[in-house]
Amino acid sequence: MTKPCVGLLFGGRSGEHEVSISSARAVARAFGEADNRDRYDLKLFYIQKDGCWQSGSLAQQVLDSGAALPTSAHPQNRQNLWQFPPDAAEVTVWFPILHGPNGEDGTIQGLLSLMQVPYVGSAVLGSAVGMDKIAMKTAFAQANLPQVAYQAIDGSQLWADSCHYGQGIEQLEIEVGYPCFVKPANLGSSVGIGKATCRTELESALELAARHDRRVIVEAAADTKIREIECAVLGNDQPEASVLGEITYDADFYDYETKYTPGLANLLIPSTLSTSVTQDIQAMAIAAFKAVDAAGLARVDFFYGETTGRIVLNEINTLPGFTATSMYPQLWAATGVPFGELVHRLVQLALDRFPPSS
Ligand SMILES: Nc1ncnc2c1ncn2[C@@H]1O[C@H](COP(=O)(O)OP(=O)(O)O)[C@@H](O)[C@H]1O
Ligand SMILES: [Mg+2]
Repeated sequence: MTKPCVGLLFGGRSGEHEVSISSARAVARAFGEADNRDRYDLKLFYIQKDGCWQSGSLAQQVLDSGAALPTSAHPQNRQNLWQFPPDAAEVTVWFPILHGPNGEDGTIQGLLSLMQVPYVGSAVLGSAVGMDKIAMKTAFAQANLPQVAYQAIDGSQLWADSCHYGQGIEQLEIEVGYPCFVKPANLGSSVGIGKATCRTELESALELAARHDRRVIVEAAADTKIREIECAVLGNDQPEASVLGEITYDADFYDYETKYTPGLANLLIPSTLSTSVTQDIQAMAIAAFKAVDAAGLARVDFFYGETTGRIVLNEINTLPGFTATSMYPQLWAATGVPFGELVHRLVQLALDRFPPSS
């Protein structure tokens, strides 16, 4: 019997291109383990920063070196954006490991749905809702999940008329207050996120966020002293939650530099939270997964108030970082599902739910 052919899809057009390459290296290594080699054939597909797809030796070269292929700012031949490498036809199940816009927001999922080939992870709806912080919070509110106070803003309106801007700021101060966090609705990796403790900082944070996205969200700081807790979810209709992990760092918040400079943040697995808080967070993680219609995998992130004991849901990531040292695979390893077994389960979950419902 021929083995299913897994198409590992990595790189992509987001700012998280390099993280995707690291994730793909770890996933490819897991498919190289003896059990998985017996189960599957693996083919590599690399999406360059300009959107062109490469397979075969060029994709292998990127994986081996860990370095992106250089591209011109605009693809020379637009036809290359619309044509897949011929060996894409041999793929029987896709494993997209693309983070951020164009990878985790439903766009690639729509393309793979149109190809009529199963793929790992959430379908179009779960990916799109999970990516957009405003849509995500609306879905969480509908499921009665605890969140901080927030306001959604159309960034373009802020600058369209100075009166509106003034009133808008006052409204934000009344409804959200200080300190607050200002975020582009559709990004990730803490890019474009600012913390504000007064009006001047709020104005510059709004300006920064609106530079990245037309849709902006302003939300209240969760607590004076928070612990950042993450839970990994695996499954389709009966998803399971992992043990919890905690991120510790010295910075004011978990910003881009802290996330990506080695040594600035530490992962504590499992977290030292009590059994009852742990169980509450695990139940909320599963509820959050269902609220956005996620599938396969997601990492759900929380803030725990050190002094208040209050748990608030921060966000869901439907294609979380998947490098050897990333939280998602480490949480499953600590729960008893090693990396190689994890990628196998994800492929099986993709096959189980095909055709995707959206
Ligand atoms: N409401 C909040 N209260 C306290 N800290 C926050 C809040 N929102 C964001 N942060 C800080 O900013 C970081 C990035 O915010 P997040 O919404 O997770 O964005 P991203 O999707 O880019 O990861 C969080 O990990 C946390 O450190
Ligand atoms: Mg986050």
